[in-house]
Amino acid sequence: MRTKFELPEQSYKYLFENVSDAIWVHDVMGNIMAANKACGKLVGYTREELIGTNVKKFLTDKSLGLAREVQGRLLNGESLEEPYEWKLLRKDGVTRIAKIASSVVIVEKEVKGFQHIARDVTEERQLRENTRFFSQLCIRAQERERERIALELHDDVAQPLLLLSQRLDAITTSTRPKLAKLLREKIEDLHILTNEALERLRRCARDLRPRILDDLGLIAALEWMVDELIEKQGIDAQAEAVGAERSLPDEVQLMLFRIAQEALSNVRRHAEATSVWITIEFGDSETTLTVKDNGKGFKLPEKVEDLTGIGKLGLAGMQERALLISAKLTLQSEPDKGTTVNVEVPI
Ligand SMILES: Nc1ncnc2c1ncn2[C@@H]1O[C@H](COP(=O)(O)OP(=O)(O)OP(=O)(O)O)[C@@H](O)[C@H]1O
Ligand SMILES: [Mg+2]
Repeated sequence: MRTKFELPEQSYKYLFENVSDAIWVHDVMGNIMAANKACGKLVGYTREELIGTNVKKFLTDKSLGLAREVQGRLLNGESLEEPYEWKLLRKDGVTRIAKIASSVVIVEKEVKGFQHIARDVTEERQLRENTRFFSQLCIRAQERERERIALELHDDVAQPLLLLSQRLDAITTSTRPKLAKLLREKIEDLHILTNEALERLRRCARDLRPRILDDLGLIAALEWMVDELIEKQGIDAQAEAVGAERSLPDEVQLMLFRIAQEALSNVRRHAEATSVWITIEFGDSETTLTVKDNGKGFKLPEKVEDLTGIGKLGLAGMQERALLISAKLTLQSEPDKGTTVNVEVPI
C-alpha cells in the first residue's frame, strides 16, 4: 500500500531555486518579493539587485502594459490563454522574449501579489524567423524563376516552333511545285506534330506563369481557372467578385492566385467535390479571397507546418504565401462538410 506524504518545504525551495525557468513573485504594486537563480540569469541582475525593486526594471513599456492587462484579468477571475509572451529588458540593454505563465498569490483570502514563470524563447523565435525569412526568399526566387522560364519558353522555343509550323503548312498548301503524295502526307504529319508540341509548350508556360494574370488581372485569372475546372474535371465551379474592384500590388495578386491555384488543386485531388465557389471580396479595409468546396473535408492538423514533414507542402505553402503579403489564412474543414480556405489581406 502506498503511503501519502507531503513534500517538505525544503524540497519546494530547492525546486524554486534550481528549476531552469525563471520565477519571480511581486506584490500588487510590482515590487519584487522573491526571484530564483534563473530569473537573475534571464534579466542579468543579481538577486540582491532584484529583491525590493519594481518589475519596471526589466519589463519593456509594452510588456508593462500587457502585464497590467494580465493582472486585471487574473483578478477578475478570467482564464488566460497561457503561456503568453513578454519582452524583457536585460541589464545590458538586450531584449529577450519570454513565454510567461502567471497566477495570483492569495494569502488568507487576500490578494498579495502575482507570481510568474518565464521561459526564454529568444533563440527559438530567432530561428523560426530566420527559417521563415529563408522560406519567403525561396518563394520569391521560385516565382522569379518560373516567370523567367515561362518567358523563355514563349520567346525562345514557342516562336521558332510557330515559324516551323507555318513553313510546313506553306509547303503542303502551296500548289507549286507539286509534291509527291507520300512526301505531302509526311509533311502534313510533321505539321500536326509541331502544332501538338507547340500546344504542350504553351500549356507548360501557362502553368508556370499564366499571362492572363499579368495581362488581365486576378479576377480574369480566377475565371480562367474556374473554366478549366469545369472543362477538365466536370466540377461545377463559379468565381465571383464582390464590391468595387481595386488594383492590387503585383505580389499580392500573384500570391492570392497561387493560394487559389493550390486550393483548387487540392479540390481536384482530394475533395471529391461536385461544386466549388471562389469569391474575391473588396472590402473597405481588406481584400478577401475564399475558396469553398462541398467535398468530403478532412481533419485539420494542429499546425499546417506539421504536414511538411510527411511531404505535404500545399497547405504550408499557402500559409507562407499569405504571410509574405501580411495576410491571414484561415482553413475550415470537417469530415463530410467540405473545406473553406480564406485569405484576408489588409489594405
Ligand atoms: N479541399 C480538400 N478536401 C479534402 N481534403 C483536403 C483538401 N485540401 C487538403 N486536404 C487534405 O489535406 C492534406 C494536405 O494538403 P496539402 O495540400 O498540404 O498536401 P497534398 O495536396 O497532399 O500534397 P502537395 O500539395 O504537397 O502536392 C491532403 O493530403 C488532403 O488529405
Ligand atoms: Mg496540395
